Amino acid sequence: MSIRPRSSPVRVAEIVPVTPFVKRFRLAATDASPLPRYSGGAHIVVEMRDGGVVRRNPYSLTSSPLHDGDYEISVQRAEVSRGGSVFMHDRVRVGDTLAVSAPVNLFMLDWRARKHVLVAGGIGITPFLAQMAQLSAEGRPFELHYCIRSPERGAYREALERCFPGHVRFYCASKGERLDVTQLVASQPLGTHLYVCGPTPLIDATLEAARAAGWPGHNLHAEHFAAPPSGTPFDVYLQRAGLRVYVGEHESLLEAIEAAGVEVPYLCRGGACGQCETAVLGCDGRLQHHDHWLTTADRAAGRKIMPCVSRFDGRELVLDL
Ligand code: FES
Repeated sequence: MSIRPRSSPVRVAEIVPVTPFVKRFRLAATDASPLPRYSGGAHIVVEMRDGGVVRRNPYSLTSSPLHDGDYEISVQRAEVSRGGSVFMHDRVRVGDTLAVSAPVNLFMLDWRARKHVLVAGGIGITPFLAQMAQLSAEGRPFELHYCIRSPERGAYREALERCFPGHVRFYCASKGERLDVTQLVASQPLGTHLYVCGPTPLIDATLEAARAAGWPGHNLHAEHFAAPPSGTPFDVYLQRAGLRVYVGEHESLLEAIEAAGVEVPYLCRGGACGQCETAVLGCDGRLQHHDHWLTTADRAAGRKIMPCVSRFDGRELVLDL
């Protein structure tokens, strides 16, 4: 079954600079009706029309899920951007209309946990903002460990200290502060669930430390923010559609296929959910896998690709689309 979240128009009601690198956008329904409800950890996909290019980027909902109303997302201006975050920062104005998908949650809290330990790196704080509102309202035991590069990059730092006193610890790399993940996972009571979101090295180190300490896999939760990388342009042939499609330097394979009018299922657009998995029918070259979904065996076999983040380098790629 093809899964693509339904999308609807929203009005940009407010834009607030949070740090020199992060802006918060408040999005309201264009007809004043309540937007669909969501739970902490959910994201929406924002559709950006930039001339003839359509980008769809996922952003975590940071507003409290406890109240009906507008959505809030926080967008960090990427240092190396394909254009989506720069578009949001430089082109989107209050009063503009954007299309957004219905919320999808691939990073849910497990309410069976006796305690919740949240580990955030940089803009990976965003899904935890909504989760902490829920955990706090429910009186659940939780703690946040928030790693930032420098004080000016610590989005929501003061709000977190104010709203969740005693629950939050910061680690500022520019001050030489480091989170010791081995010690963190060694000192938790049985039944604790661990959630991590941020750069891949932080996610990998945290999960590895937890596994090494004997944590069961179902107590570990991670959300990877894998934006599709830019790369050398290439052609792809879509066998069932009978179409040859050019994939430009700054567009993803999925975006190029969509622009050609062929629908591919998706949920995360970040290489994590598995929805866009596509069979490779022919490959004269090298598949550049950037997802967190395919297994090592899948990659070695070379028969599958995740077009939301992965690319191709070579003479001919043929997909079962
Ligand atoms: S859309 Fe989720 S892995 Fe591609």
